[in-house]
Amino acid sequence: MAATSSILILAILAGSLLPSGAQFADPPPPSNETMPDSITVVDVGNDTTAVPEEPVAETEGEYNQGVEDCIYADSPLSRRQVIADGYPTLWAAAQASGLTDAPENISQKLTLFAPTDEAFSKFFEENGLSPEEVLANQPLVLEVLTYHAVPAVKDFESLASEPQDLPTLKEGSMLTIGTNGTVVGEASNATIAKGNIWSCNAVIHEIDTVLLPQSAVDALTGGAP
Ligand SMILES: *[C@@H]1O[C@H](CO)[C@@H](O)[C@H](O)[C@H]1NC(C)=O
Ligand SMILES: *[C@@H]1O[C@H](CO)[C@@H](O)[C@H](O)[C@H]1NC(C)=O
Ligand SMILES: *[C@@H]1O[C@H](CO)[C@@H](O)[C@H](O)[C@H]1NC(C)=O
Ligand SMILES: *[C@@H]1O[C@H](CO)[C@@H](O)[C@H](O)[C@H]1NC(C)=O
Ligand SMILES: *[C@@H]1O[C@H](CO)[C@@H](O)[C@H](O)[C@H]1NC(C)=O
Repeated sequence: MAATSSILILAILAGSLLPSGAQFADPPPPSNETMPDSITVVDVGNDTTAVPEEPVAETEGEYNQGVEDCIYADSPLSRRQVIADGYPTLWAAAQASGLTDAPENISQKLTLFAPTDEAFSKFFEENGLSPEEVLANQPLVLEVLTYHAVPAVKDFESLASEPQDLPTLKEGSMLTIGTNGTVVGEASNATIAKGNIWSCNAVIHEIDTVLLPQSAVDALTGGAP
């Protein structure tokens, strides 16, 4: 109940944070027509995960890293569009982080772990914070957000093939990915609920918990920086 009203407040706040041009305010809905044709559904624990059969890069270089081509030809939606539409609280956080240009850099290909709105509600509740308090803490939001991004394209199959440590955009911080879809962070763990949500320049894996670097926990427990 509290969480729901928090999300509503957050949505309103996010609206006020949008640039005056407002071209982000009304992203086109993701169309299933733009998703890869060959999607198979696999089970990860209890969750349904869509995995394209052949996620083949268009041009040379692993998933077109560093070039201005989509990593997956059939997914022209930008990560901005996918996040704004499917992950409103994450999008509000991206707006609040000051990383407003980052989603536009098409040549930076990413793997993004995207917490759901429910995951954010849980985070707010567990820390006794309102969404407004969190969004107002720009350094904290930036740390937590960059901790969810890996500067390489890791599709779900490659994550499930072997346990691995991935460096994140938060310098010096890693995420450990288990072959069972577990994402072990420095101070919280998540599970991939939905894998391989392709956008032009990122593969997004939906997760059920906000990943916290230790520094964020220190900031939260030691008073706001
Ligand atoms: C897109 O998804 C909707 C709802 O699942 C479905 O009704 C529609 O037929 C789909 N369109 C295409 C082109 O697959
Ligand atoms: C799936 O979820 C149910 C209820 O949440 C649980 O009882 C069951 O053990 C889970 N199964 C697996 C394979 O994790
Ligand atoms: C965009 O991303 C590429 C690839 O990671 C990077 O080399 C470049 O510096 C970035 N450009 C800007 C303007 O951030
Ligand atoms: C998933 O894998 C991680 C890392 O290997 C492990 O710590 C965890 O216990 C596993 N979880 C389940 C439900 O098997
Ligand atoms: C996350 O998972 C790891 C490995 O299973 C475990 O050692 C750690 O205690 C977990 N952390 C939290 C915050 O649950």
